[in-house]
Amino acid sequence: MWDKLTSLAGRLGDRRIEELFADEGRAAAFSLSAEDMLFDYSKTQIDDEIRAALLELAETRGVAARRDAMFAGQKINETEGRAVLHTALRNLDAAPVLVDGRDVMPGVLEVLDRMEALAREIRDSDVTDVVNIGIGGSDLGPVMATLALAPYHDGPRAHFVSNVDGADIADTLKLCDPERTVFIVASKTFTTIETMTNARSAKAWLAEKGVSDAGRFIALSSNVAKAGEFGIPAERVFGFEDWVGGRYSVWGPIGLSLMLAIGPENFRAFLRGGQSMDRHFREAPPEANMPVLLALVGLWHNQVLGHATRAVLPYDNRLMRLPAYLQQLEMESNGKGVSMDGADLTCHSGPVVWGEPGTNGQHAFYQLIHQGTRVVPCEFLLAARGHEPDLRHHHELLVANCLAQSEALMRGRSLDEARAKVAGQFEGDELERQARHRVFPGNRPSTTLIYETLDPETLGRIVALYEHRVFVEGVILDINSYDQWGVELGKELATALGPMVSGETPVTGKDGSTAQLLGYVHAHRG
Ligand code: F6P
Repeated sequence: MWDKLTSLAGRLGDRRIEELFADEGRAAAFSLSAEDMLFDYSKTQIDDEIRAALLELAETRGVAARRDAMFAGQKINETEGRAVLHTALRNLDAAPVLVDGRDVMPGVLEVLDRMEALAREIRDSDVTDVVNIGIGGSDLGPVMATLALAPYHDGPRAHFVSNVDGADIADTLKLCDPERTVFIVASKTFTTIETMTNARSAKAWLAEKGVSDAGRFIALSSNVAKAGEFGIPAERVFGFEDWVGGRYSVWGPIGLSLMLAIGPENFRAFLRGGQSMDRHFREAPPEANMPVLLALVGLWHNQVLGHATRAVLPYDNRLMRLPAYLQQLEMESNGKGVSMDGADLTCHSGPVVWGEPGTNGQHAFYQLIHQGTRVVPCEFLLAARGHEPDLRHHHELLVANCLAQSEALMRGRSLDEARAKVAGQFEGDELERQARHRVFPGNRPSTTLIYETLDPETLGRIVALYEHRVFVEGVILDINSYDQWGVELGKELATALGPMVSGETPVTGKDGSTAQLLGYVHAHRG
């Protein structure tokens, strides 16, 4: 199948994307909707034949069967022997979801009810600040969503401490009143070194301020025993099962900081959004299925055309942490070197994902996107309506910029057009030289996901869309998207290096570079 796509790619020659718009129906034919959301992938080289080959790829790789296996609670995370059921966390209809023959929904809904009761209690109390201590999936989802839904934030101030760098917690605690602060220790395993170090420092801070930590800590974890050892009583522990992966966990207890910020009703709306995307993913035919098409466009650009990176460019400032969130979601999920059976992958794994909100990025790295020698497929996100009716003209400028960028990427500027631009200023060889600097190659692909406005439900749909995209890409690449063995080695080496950094043990068995760097730290740490 890849061969067919590679040969179609080889036949592109110097065809330009804009030529495809000679077909007046192209925009509609290469776009699809899910409720109010529209995904437009017409500004790519994908034509009928290429799309048919991509859809055939999805079919031969068994995407639909694998999707059904995931929703049915089968253990598709084969290296860890686990089901993959974050979708159960947003299954608000409570339709049974079986794992090993047991319906997990009563437990899910019971925890959701407990979270809501606690959220109401805290939101009605004199608590002014909530500090979520967690990292990776226990941080990025809640922080991304809390920023995204700032217009709905009517609860206590939300802070997020993730880095083991003491600067993170120190700077945060300076903003908090110890008598009115609640700490949420968010860690699926309750063993993550960064989180446990920060949690202990928060406890020490309360002690130093003479404030009892009783009732000040909440744990979000699958490891109730470890939370108990830390001193958090069972009624303040919100558990979830091993079938919720860290980077897919914002929908359950890990989302408590978000629920505290926006309230239980808005949190439910976020879940409803995720659930509606699940429905679309399960029911829409492949050619009208947004996660499937988003994945196929990604595979076309990365695996077939060889573009190694993918820029996520939200023209929605409150999605400023979406690129970071997607970095974990996509790169921890599909950044693997072997296929399900342990054999080396025969194609590239998932792309490098990066990005920043527009218009800021335009004044930073878009230069390379437009004129650099490497092609960076761009994924724009845009709301038709902002949350600031008094600042409508800002939003109009934002929209104009977003649309201008995808147009510029596609059209570019020819040498003749560049010459015409500078004709009045320069002559002869100098005109030619100056004109060449002003050429834009164009023919650069982009997609746009457009939605009405960034409300909780829409955010839920966007996040679930990207989750399912990762799933589809993973199935087609024959990758296990749900483990993350690649993060282990660094953790093990850091544990071993700890005593050498503190000076407790001598530096032995290290390469020259590591030993030199340790020596520098020892000589200069004061
Ligand atoms: O190190 C990677 C990782 O395991 C992520 O997958 C996870 O989201 C993060 O660490 C945090 O883990 P935990 O929630 O167990 O503290």
